[in-house]
Amino acid sequence: MIAKIQELLEEVEKLKASNLEEVEALRIKYLSKKGSLNALMADFRNVPAEMKKEVGMKLNDLKAKAQEKIAALKEVVDTQDCGTDELDLTRTAYPVSLGTRHPLTIVKNEIVDIFSRLGFTLAEGPEIEDDWHVFSALNFPPEHPARDMQDTFFIEKDPDILLRTHTSSIQVRTMERQKPPIRVICPGRVFRNEAISYRAHCIFHQIEGLYIDEGVSFADMKQSLLYFAKEVFGEQAVIRMRPSYFPFTEPSAESCNLCGGKGCNVCKGTGWLEIMGCGMVDPNVLKANNIDPEKYSGFAFGMGIERIAMLKYGVKDLRLYFENDVRFLHQFDEAL
Ligand code: DAH
Repeated sequence: MIAKIQELLEEVEKLKASNLEEVEALRIKYLSKKGSLNALMADFRNVPAEMKKEVGMKLNDLKAKAQEKIAALKEVVDTQDCGTDELDLTRTAYPVSLGTRHPLTIVKNEIVDIFSRLGFTLAEGPEIEDDWHVFSALNFPPEHPARDMQDTFFIEKDPDILLRTHTSSIQVRTMERQKPPIRVICPGRVFRNEAISYRAHCIFHQIEGLYIDEGVSFADMKQSLLYFAKEVFGEQAVIRMRPSYFPFTEPSAESCNLCGGKGCNVCKGTGWLEIMGCGMVDPNVLKANNIDPEKYSGFAFGMGIERIAMLKYGVKDLRLYFENDVRFLHQFDEAL
C-alpha cells in the first residue's frame, strides 16, 4: 500500500494540463468518488492495525498534495484561458487554500442554530464586566467563593471590575434592556483563574440560555433541553435531571446525557455525563432586574462549548482547542 501511495504521489507531482477539460479529467481520475484516491481509501480498511497510523498519514498527505496540484493546474489554465491579452490585476497570484472553521465555532453555531429553531435569539455581552452583572444581580451572596481572587481575574478592586467568569452575566444585560417575553441564547468567552491542564483552562467558552414569560415551567425546560440533546447527540439521546445548586436558579438541576446506552469510556461506564447546569430563574434574580416574579417565571441553562465539542468529536485534551495546530484543525474540514 505504501509503495502504491508513493507511486501515485510521484505521478501527481508530474501532472500537466493545458486546458480546463484536461484539468477536470485529472480531477475525475484522482479525486472523484470513483477516482484512484478513493480506491486507495477503500483499501485502507485492510491495512493491519499497527500500520494504520503510518499509512493513514501518507494517504492524507497524498490527498492534500493531489488537491493542491490540481487546484494549481486549474489556476494556471484559468489564467491562460481568459482569451485576452489584458492583465487581470484582481486575480489572486496563487491558489489560496481555504481555511476551516474552528471546531468550537462549528459547535457554537450548531447550538445557536438548534435554539433558534425554538425561537431563541442571539444576545451578547462584554467580556470585561462588573460585580453586579456577574455576581450580585445573579443572587450570589457577598461571601460566595466565586468572588475570590483564586477563582476570578480582577482588573480593579472597589468598584470591582473583572473578567466575566460565566456567560450568565448576559442574562442580566438582557433583562436590563428587554421586558418579557425574553428568549435568548448567549455564547461567549469566559475566564477563570485555573491552572491549565488537559481538562481545565483559564479561558473557555460557554453558552447561556434564558427564557422568561408568563407560565414558563420546569417541564418546558426539560422538553427544550431534551430537544437540544437529541439534535446534538442523535435521536437515541436521553437526558436526566439531577438536583444541584446555583445561586441564580431555584430549583437548580444538572442535565445529563446518556451517551448511547450501555456506557462507554467517555462516561467511564456510568452511562451518564453532565452536559450543563440549569434551573428555574430565582425570584430574587427577577426582582433584582425589575421583573415581577409573581407574574413571570423562567428557566436558564449554561454549558461549556469545549465540553460539548469534546463529547461530539472525542477530543481528550482541552488544550488542543487553543494551540491552533493546523494538523488538529484540518480534521474538522468535513464538518464545514
Ligand atoms: N453559570 C454556570 C457556570 O458557569 C452555569 C449555569 C448553571 C448557567 C445553571 C445557568 C444555570 O443559567 O441555570 O457553571
